[in-house]
Amino acid sequence: MSKRQVVLLATAFAAVAVFSTLSFLLVNTAPQGKPLKNFTAPFVYGRFAIPPDNPLTEEGVELGRRLFYDPRLSSNNQVSCSTCHQQSLAFTDGLTGSVGVSGKPLAFNSMSLANLLWGPQFFFWNGRSDSLEQQALIPLQHPDEMGQDLDELVQELEQDTTYRQLFRIAYGGISAETIAKALASFQRTLVSANSRYDQFLRGEIQLTEQEEWGRKLFMAHPDTKASLRGGNCIDCHSQFLTSGFNTKFDGFINNGLDDEANLSPGLAEVTGNEAHRGVFKTPTLRNIAVTAPYMHDGRFQTLEQVLKHYNGGIKPSKTLSPLIAEADNLGNFSDGKISLNLREEEAQAIIAFLHTLTDETFLTDPRFSNPFSDKAK
Ligand code: HEC
Ligand code: HEC
Repeated sequence: MSKRQVVLLATAFAAVAVFSTLSFLLVNTAPQGKPLKNFTAPFVYGRFAIPPDNPLTEEGVELGRRLFYDPRLSSNNQVSCSTCHQQSLAFTDGLTGSVGVSGKPLAFNSMSLANLLWGPQFFFWNGRSDSLEQQALIPLQHPDEMGQDLDELVQELEQDTTYRQLFRIAYGGISAETIAKALASFQRTLVSANSRYDQFLRGEIQLTEQEEWGRKLFMAHPDTKASLRGGNCIDCHSQFLTSGFNTKFDGFINNGLDDEANLSPGLAEVTGNEAHRGVFKTPTLRNIAVTAPYMHDGRFQTLEQVLKHYNGGIKPSKTLSPLIAEADNLGNFSDGKISLNLREEEAQAIIAFLHTLTDETFLTDPRFSNPFSDKAK
């Protein structure tokens, strides 16, 4: 071999080496799953963002669904995400405080997981998590939820052929990060958009007279000058999603559950700002008829009790929302008692409207159900 041939050969080897390293890097950084088909998001819900490093893929979502329903994710192999987030209850659990591996009830009521793509991208009642990826690892490790050690979990999943394959195709491998990505992907697909209210908005059905009355009251801020009666709900449970505004912490509000002396920290625990005491995430009201008990601590058992709260049970405090303090159908702001002063039939009409937000398609959609068919509920 001439000197020139040796150089050429060496260059060729180097090129192959560089190319294979590059392609290895490419393969291992980008998820390789197929883009998710059949995913539709109603345009009236507005814009949403999916992190560029975790696009929705068939395999990622399928994997996330398995993980979501798999009790092996917990330390005692008995608690899965779905223990506290059950599809038939719009991914809540019907308990005042949720119960995980320790058997000790949490201080907080489980939250619905519908339409998480929209609304404030701050999760939990006090907004302490700012992405679904980050959120997922919190209940996994929490001693009263799933109490799991992440390294042990990765090892456990490595021993399962199906998981190994799915993780390899979707993300290149198993790690805490890819577990979180898969769970986040599945949760992003949980879109609820076929309640009777949606069907009404699409012009497919009519609401009953009582529901329509309730809808109008829900949507109106009372204005005595214009003789407009209202329940004021839309001021916070905004637009189609009936959850809070999504700019920064705008969707976090004090709705008058406690007086000054008894305010819980709420958002203040996250921001350190005293003006955020007693301030919590405005939850979506979609499927609200199936997600009792209500509020961050599950203090109300029924929608009647919730309406009683807004209609005379409001506790004043420095951080109470002015939208509540200034909403009164009698215009008596100065009598010292904050109340909407709705009539009983008006409260009942609002409750009837809240029932139109139940989305049977969402509650029974097979794409969101337990994939372990033998254990399927
Ligand atoms: C022991 C019951 C329990 C388990 C298990 C559990 N959760 Fe939750 N989840 C809750 C409770 C309670 C809250 C509200 C807690 C809070 O605000 O501090 C919540 C809140 C959430 C939220 C926030 C929703 C929002 O609108 O802000 C998401 C997302 C969520 N859980 C996903 C998961 C995932 C994913 C898993 C499994 C890895 C899981 N949860 C396991 C009880 C549970
Ligand atoms: C000033 C803002 C505001 C107004 C007005 C308001 N809400 Fe709320 N709502 C909230 C907040 C914030 C929460 C969560 C509070 C908490 O748990 O600490 C909430 C919680 C709820 C819940 C419980 C949700 C759950 O998942 O537990 C229901 C039901 C509800 N509101 C219905 C209504 C109705 C009906 C009206 C109108 C009569 C209304 N709200 C008016 C801010 C508001």
